[in-house]
Amino acid sequence: LMRTKIPEGLQKLPGPKPLPIIGNVLEVGNNPHLSLTAMSKCYGPVFQIQIGMRPVVVLSGNDVIRQALLKQGEEFAGRPDLYSTKFISDGKSLAFSTDQVGVWRARRKLALSALRTFATLQGESSEYSCALEEHISKEGLYLIERLHNVMKADGSFDPFRHIVVSVANVICGICFGRRYSHDDDELVSLVNLSDEFGKIVGSGNPADFIPFLRILPSTTMKKFVAINARFSKLMKKIVNDHYNTFDKDNIRDITDSLINHCEDRKLDENSNIQVSDEKIVGIVNDLFGAGFDTISTALSWAVVYLVAYPEIQERLQRELREKIGMDRTPRLSDRTDLPLLEAFILEIFRHSSFLPFTIPHCTSKDTSLNGYFIPKDTCVFVNQWQVNHDPELWKDPSSFNLDRFLTADGTYLNKMEGEKVLVFGLGKRRCIGESIGRAEVFLFLAILLQRLKFSGMPGEMLDMTPEYGLTMKHKRCLLRVTPQPGFEFPGT
Ligand code: HEM
Repeated sequence: LMRTKIPEGLQKLPGPKPLPIIGNVLEVGNNPHLSLTAMSKCYGPVFQIQIGMRPVVVLSGNDVIRQALLKQGEEFAGRPDLYSTKFISDGKSLAFSTDQVGVWRARRKLALSALRTFATLQGESSEYSCALEEHISKEGLYLIERLHNVMKADGSFDPFRHIVVSVANVICGICFGRRYSHDDDELVSLVNLSDEFGKIVGSGNPADFIPFLRILPSTTMKKFVAINARFSKLMKKIVNDHYNTFDKDNIRDITDSLINHCEDRKLDENSNIQVSDEKIVGIVNDLFGAGFDTISTALSWAVVYLVAYPEIQERLQRELREKIGMDRTPRLSDRTDLPLLEAFILEIFRHSSFLPFTIPHCTSKDTSLNGYFIPKDTCVFVNQWQVNHDPELWKDPSSFNLDRFLTADGTYLNKMEGEKVLVFGLGKRRCIGESIGRAEVFLFLAILLQRLKFSGMPGEMLDMTPEYGLTMKHKRCLLRVTPQPGFEFPGT
């Protein structure tokens, strides 16, 4: 970059002075969402840091991020070539890999259409509006039973541990046409390791940028490699089972539909997309991985916030009692009738900003932003946490206040405010699971809150400090549940 000539009329990016070899690693520290937000106050919404020898552009502020990801979307839609990416899905991930534009676009289109088809498919029973609703409702009820049993046996439970299995089962149903028992060691132990994955792929991991760090012994890195290997092995086994039982006339799930796409393509001599079968069927790894970690993190945070703010829990339960009652299970179509719950979810997304940065982006050609020159192949971090805590956008951003998303009389959701929350990214790389994600967080929470009251362990303080990563988790904790009035646990 030093040698790159800056075109006339454009300026050199501002930013902190880097140290030799390590760059700004020390200033970035263990909480890049906080340190880079602080730097944006000093250097503005577009600035440059250096991690190791490599320059990284950091984007903050609603206007700049919209300009880059929406108006100049094409130029900012690439992914950087990072060390850790090679271990994810054997380097063939749709979300993380450096696929060339045409290949990524073809895979993304296939992934979107597969998700849309299988989430909106008619469920087995007419009781449900779609397969997604059916999976979530059933898993929500299993989860309640599970929590009851754990409470009976142990007197408390670890929320993430159980929620992650239920959420994984929803996406398993859609991707693989099956679910796993909460006692299945293979799945339960794997999905419970997602925090180790997130620690390595979070924006700003020094080993991604500084080669000599990779040869130092690192237990986190070893665990990361091992998790990816286990994950790939499980996915390969499931995909092989699908190949062995594949029937063109009975497409059971997303994996089948991707296999079918490969078969059809072979018959289509005019096809010009050069994407290997492995990369097509491998899309299911991304859908499964992205589909369980994000949503279970969101739900687990939601439960912790309910415990931290009991008066809010009470308000949400009153809304459910008044609008739904106890005679039926909440449905997706209840969303418009439960503005408080919708506001609560938005405030969880905003306040926790549990996806503090998008997956790192990369420029596909020389470009400029706010008058600054940014060369091709520059790694770009998009600071979602900063947008969600920007005092220019939010009144008193550090306070947890769901009323900010309600109209003045408190009866409707203020959609305009809701759209300011940035957790799914924007533009060409925007999350493809957004509507499934929002639906799932809503319905799981509605079902849980209708029947259960969450509380902490007497005398124990909840630690809400997030642990930095691609998805930030709260510390593991123990909570309790009691049934809501009018609900009895099955078998009691
Ligand atoms: C990408 C957030 C749920 C699939 C992303 C990105 C974010 C995000 C921030 C990166 C955007 C960027 O790089 O600019 C979330 C949140 C979720 C969620 C907050 C839930 C609350 C899901 C679900 C699926 C999914 C349920 C699939 C079933 C993906 C995929 C990508 C992605 C495949 C990569 C897109 C690409 O690189 O083109 N998501 N996500 N996500 N998400 Fe999600």
